[in-house]
Amino acid sequence: MPKIYNVLAISGSTRTRSTNLNLIRAIAGMSTDLFNVTIYDGLLQLPHFNPDEDMEPGMEPVAVTGFRNKLRAADAILICTPEYAVGVPGVLKDAIDWTVSSMEFCKKPVALITASTAGHHAHASLLGTLLIIESRITDATQLVVSAVKTKVNHNYQITDADLLQQLQKLIQSLYQVISDPEKAGPYLQAPVPY
Ligand SMILES: Cc1cc2nc3c(=O)[nH]c(=O)nc-3n(C[C@H](O)[C@H](O)[C@H](O)COP(=O)(O)O)c2cc1C
Repeated sequence: MPKIYNVLAISGSTRTRSTNLNLIRAIAGMSTDLFNVTIYDGLLQLPHFNPDEDMEPGMEPVAVTGFRNKLRAADAILICTPEYAVGVPGVLKDAIDWTVSSMEFCKKPVALITASTAGHHAHASLLGTLLIIESRITDATQLVVSAVKTKVNHNYQITDADLLQQLQKLIQSLYQVISDPEKAGPYLQAPVPY
């Protein structure tokens, strides 16, 4: 029996009937033999990122402490997000900005899926953010899913054969990054230092 790893999943969409949330649920269902997927449901409770409240460890808002603890405890993070106005949803970017100083993403295996009408702009931007904070991402653990509403239904089923295959590969690749990080690379590199 393979070891089961804990994955914290974050949907960049806070809609109740979010396709990204359904995609996370579909991935959780497809990977029960490998992952225990917990969906982070606190995104709307996080305050906007404010560096003044992030000056000292332990002095940050309580909701942020909870978020950081959940990230730290997870073996990997799965992010599924839509694109808004050719960018990353602000609520997701805010959440990630709270981790820059505390470094929960550093060396953390991350699977990034941008599932949207198109999605390439948000994907490139978020990938850059995650790489600059040193997330472990390979080419096989990131994916853009365009026209997502035609590919995932509200029963958390993937209705597109190509997407099903891509997700199976992504799940296997994420498992390899967690279980054998030395062999799983090469890892993507941040495109530009700031
Ligand atoms: C305010 C707003 C802006 C959007 N801008 C884009 C965009 O720039 N690119 C894109 O691919 N989709 C865009 N969309 C469409 C959403 O990404 C799409 O409906 C997606 O499936 C929503 O994800 P969800 O079902 O998980 O909520 C936008 C939607 C909204 C509400």
